[in-house]
Amino acid sequence: MWRRAFLLLTCYWLMMLCQYFTITQASNNVSAILPPVGNSLQAKLKTKNALRTYTCGSGGWTRVNASGDLLDFNTNKLVGSYTAVNIPTSHTNLTLLNSDADVIESGFLTSSVIVILITTINVTSSDVIESLNQAICHQNIGAAARVSYVVYLNFSGGNPPPTSLCTVEFGILESISIEVPFDVEIDIYTQDLVPPPTPTSLMVPNGTLVESFFAQGSIIYQYNGSTWLEQNISALLYNVIGGYVVGKFENLQKLDKFESELNWHIYNPNGFSLTGHNFVDPIVLSTTDVAWALFKITSNSGNTTLLGPYTYVQLVSTRGGTAPSLSDSVGLPPGLVWTSPFSGIFWFYANST
Ligand SMILES: *[C@@H]1O[C@H](CO)[C@@H](O)[C@H](O)[C@H]1NC(C)=O
Ligand SMILES: *[C@@H]1O[C@H](CO)[C@@H](O)[C@H](O)[C@H]1NC(C)=O
Ligand SMILES: *[C@@H]1O[C@H](CO)[C@@H](O)[C@H](O)[C@H]1NC(C)=O
Ligand SMILES: *[C@@H]1O[C@H](CO)[C@@H](O)[C@H](O)[C@H]1NC(C)=O
Ligand SMILES: *[C@@H]1O[C@H](CO)[C@@H](O)[C@H](O)[C@H]1NC(C)=O
Ligand SMILES: *[C@@H]1O[C@H](CO)[C@@H](O)[C@H](O)[C@H]1NC(C)=O
Ligand SMILES: *[C@@H]1O[C@H](CO)[C@@H](O)[C@H](O)[C@H]1NC(C)=O
Ligand SMILES: *[C@@H]1O[C@H](CO)[C@@H](O)[C@H](O)[C@H]1NC(C)=O
Ligand SMILES: *[C@@H]1O[C@H](CO)[C@@H](O)[C@H](O)[C@H]1NC(C)=O
Repeated sequence: MWRRAFLLLTCYWLMMLCQYFTITQASNNVSAILPPVGNSLQAKLKTKNALRTYTCGSGGWTRVNASGDLLDFNTNKLVGSYTAVNIPTSHTNLTLLNSDADVIESGFLTSSVIVILITTINVTSSDVIESLNQAICHQNIGAAARVSYVVYLNFSGGNPPPTSLCTVEFGILESISIEVPFDVEIDIYTQDLVPPPTPTSLMVPNGTLVESFFAQGSIIYQYNGSTWLEQNISALLYNVIGGYVVGKFENLQKLDKFESELNWHIYNPNGFSLTGHNFVDPIVLSTTDVAWALFKITSNSGNTTLLGPYTYVQLVSTRGGTAPSLSDSVGLPPGLVWTSPFSGIFWFYANST
């Protein structure tokens, strides 16, 4: 049962959330800026009348913000607008005009999504980057409220003038600023309503799909002199990507009586708690993302579901969370602790009726 994200949030915790993200610099490989499997392209947009603002300071130009109109990539129809702020972290407000149906449902003419930069690749020069951005906040019902990831592609323009033109500094309050036109394609993704296809062993043996939660957290590894051992995993659970926190996921410090060491806790009202363990070996699908997994649920408590207790949970659509490569770790001191941020989607299943 997919829960529609009908949110009316103020996004006031925006800056706090931004601290949790680290930008992973990837190679010049376009697949590095594609959203995880399980998200699909919803719309291709492009900018019009877009301007980037730079200010002169600290001996060079600093990218401050940007704004522009958004057009449908193919029809050139105006579909919304956006504003981006680059300091202290890069986040963008994409505001889309609502469809008639969404206007009726929400009472608002527009919906917005705030996305933050999570991965960039270099295209031609340091200031023209292509990037993957993740939703961290939605406002109003509508197309933007369903956005999970946004990809910026095919930048042109937008580079600052030569550093030689930035010669006078007036400090932070009064600095020279300059606006530079640019164009970019903006691809908008939404999370699929069903889990992505998994390797056969990770398919749920039987059961009914009930709901999903977006997990964002970290995995802690410790180096023992020859390998990295997983010590702890924990994540906050969100109703959707860019939604609100509804629970948490973490490992127990010792196995429970069902030999389980993982716990999912959805807070009240109607909260519940599950414990479980790996049902089969997790499967590594990419060198940069933690393995996908299938967990057997061994205990349910609280208000689980009308469909009966949960039986299995899948972890798919992962990003990050891997340990450092062993070849890069040779000679590191034993005991070293490494915290690796990750995200993913948990899909919850109950017994078939
Ligand atoms: C780009 O990354 C993908 C996935 O990380 C990998 O499969 C592919 O081989 C890479 N391509 C190049 C040209 O490095
Ligand atoms: C961008 O930054 C400039 C200089 O700080 C400021 O004057 C302008 O209002 C900002 N524009 C937006 C859209 O935030
Ligand atoms: C995003 O932009 C829209 C349109 O300018 C505005 O109404 C909304 O308040 C903005 N959201 C945030 C969180 O700044
Ligand atoms: C991107 O390009 C700039 C300038 O060429 C370089 O300094 C920077 O290290 C590059 N970043 C990556 C991730 O390759
Ligand atoms: C945008 O970039 C992609 C990948 O780099 C490329 O395949 C595509 O042709 C580009 N589209 C346009 C309109 O430039
Ligand atoms: C379905 O799964 C449950 C829980 O694992 C198991 O007890 C039951 O026997 C399974 N039913 C079938 C038809 O495989
Ligand atoms: C590190 O842990 C692995 C897996 O438990 C073990 O095989 C290896 O011997 C350990 N290395 C050292 C140096 O203790
Ligand atoms: C794992 O978590 C436990 C409990 O919070 C803590 O005592 C332990 O130090 C953690 N291990 C590492 C390597 O951080
Ligand atoms: C389960 O939900 C019902 C109705 O919402 C509530 O009255 C009850 O207290 C809940 N039970 C638990 C254990 O949370």
